[in-house]
Parts: sequence; structure tokens; C-alpha cells
Amino acid sequence: MQYIKIAQTDEIKDGEKKKITLDNKVLLLANVKGTYYAIDNKCPHMGGSLFDGNLDGYNIVCPKHGSVFDVRTGKAVKGGKIIFIKVQANDTQAYPVKIEGTDILVGLE
Ligand code: FES
Repeated sequence: MQYIKIAQTDEIKDGEKKKITLDNKVLLLANVKGTYYAIDNKCPHMGGSLFDGNLDGYNIVCPKHGSVFDVRTGKAVKGGKIIFIKVQANDTQAYPVKIEGTDILVGLE
């Protein structure tokens, strides 16, 4: 696994998130209680940008249909809805994050 620098710790405060665009993917980076988490930004249901959703503790809510993902694991913890129809999203990919000094690095395969 290769770790690459994606941000600096002072760019993203507790409770904040940032969209990180890499060559072949877009990540959502979140700071929850001083720990940083990275998941795919693209909702596995129909591609909503999770960055545009609300971060509520460890949960990010997809702005399109309201599926909820845990930023620690990428797991879909709650399905969303299209009008009255419930939708079930698959889990999204989570990536390991490490801090070196003030650099935030994410591990990619
Ligand atoms: S696109 Fe995210 S819940 Fe539908």
C-alpha cells in the first residue's frame, strides 16, 4: 500500500470535511473529534457527492436520497428514500489515514 499526502491538518477542523480530488478518484476526508477519516466521495447508490451532505458525528448523509454512511468504515448504516420508496445503498470504500507531522496521508492500493 502506498500512502500519499492529501491535506494538512490545519485545513480541516473538528466536524469539518473536505473533498480531495486525486487522479482516478475523489475522496471525502472528515475530521471527527481530531481523527481523520477518508472514504470514497461517490455514493454507491446513484453517485451522489457525499461531500455535499451533512456530517453528523461519524455519519455522512448522502444529499441525493439520504443514505447514511459511517466515515470510519464506509459502511452504509441507514438506507435512503426516493419519494416514499426506500433505497438500500451498498457500503462505500474506506481508506486508512495516517498523520505525519502536519501532513494527512491516505493509503491507496
Ligand atoms: S445517490 Fe446516495 S442515496 Fe441515492
